[in-house]
Amino acid sequence: MPQIGALHEKGITPGLAVVLVGDDSASQVYVGMKARAFAKMELYSETFYLAGNTSQEELLKLIDRLNKDPQFHGILVQLPLPSHLDEMAVIMRIDPDKDADGIHPVSLGKMVLGVDAPLSCTPHGILMLLKYSDIETTGKHVVVVGRSNIVGKPIANLLMQKRPLGNATVTLCHSRTKDLAGICRLADILIVAIGRAGLIDRSYVRDGAVVIDVGVNRVEDASAKRGYRLVGDVNFEDVKDKVAAITPVPGGVGPMTISMLIANTVYLANKMAS
Ligand SMILES: NC(=O)c1ccc[n+]([C@@H]2O[C@H](COP(=O)([O-])OP(=O)(O)OC[C@H]3O[C@@H](n4cnc5c(N)ncnc54)[C@H](OP(=O)(O)O)[C@@H]3O)[C@@H](O)[C@H]2O)c1
Repeated sequence: MPQIGALHEKGITPGLAVVLVGDDSASQVYVGMKARAFAKMELYSETFYLAGNTSQEELLKLIDRLNKDPQFHGILVQLPLPSHLDEMAVIMRIDPDKDADGIHPVSLGKMVLGVDAPLSCTPHGILMLLKYSDIETTGKHVVVVGRSNIVGKPIANLLMQKRPLGNATVTLCHSRTKDLAGICRLADILIVAIGRAGLIDRSYVRDGAVVIDVGVNRVEDASAKRGYRLVGDVNFEDVKDKVAAITPVPGGVGPMTISMLIANTVYLANKMAS
């Protein structure tokens, strides 16, 4: 990444603060992956481990401190937070100029308006997957399944925008959608982010569609070392011979999300330096 070299020459090492509250094992794995990716790129990252019973006040105090610390150009709070904490209040406490995850309302608002801002990492990663796989979005019908603030809503919005990697006609589905399979079969590009292992089988997919599987689900597997394996929301084996392209789980959208976290941190460091 040439921007990293240019920042290093100015004596700046892009830095990310990661905040992990509690001992959720999946979150611990994600945080570890992020730290390793930053180290590999010679970027600085530090993870702040807080106990599961940390109070809202303590957490907000840490965010305030990180907001002021010039070593950190980006801050990421690993979600989900334990249920006694107010997730939205925590996200809103992050300085939008340090919003490495692109999920602060200021970043999301700018994204909707098409104004320069850090993009939400997973949707950003999906756009890059489409771009570097030469998959045209203009005029295509994209069906997004799932309406979360971190995946479904932002990717649907980005793909409908009037700009490169946009210009798609987008349908957004969720748990109350009627005839989900029928709507999914109308998709040129099907993006699934629901957290339901293998729910999307070949009956949801039209011949030659592009399928992007965001889901990461643990399913029991006695033959696996850890007793489980990771699978997506799409039944990969069932649909693979029907599609033009499909992202695997693990190894598809996940690594792109981490790459975009790096890109956002470098973007924020550049912005701070200019
Ligand atoms: N690879 C990555 O980097 C990455 C990043 C983020 C998330 N993920 C994974 O993506 C999945 C989704 O996570 P998320 O945080 O985006 O979503 P989420 O907050 O868990 O929400 C799930 C969404 O899916 C919808 N949904 C659930 N069951 C459904 C069904 N049977 N039919 C249709 N829609 C259904 C829900 O509808 P309602 O709104 O009606 O409840 C909701 O909008 C999870 O497996 C998560 O681990 C992966």
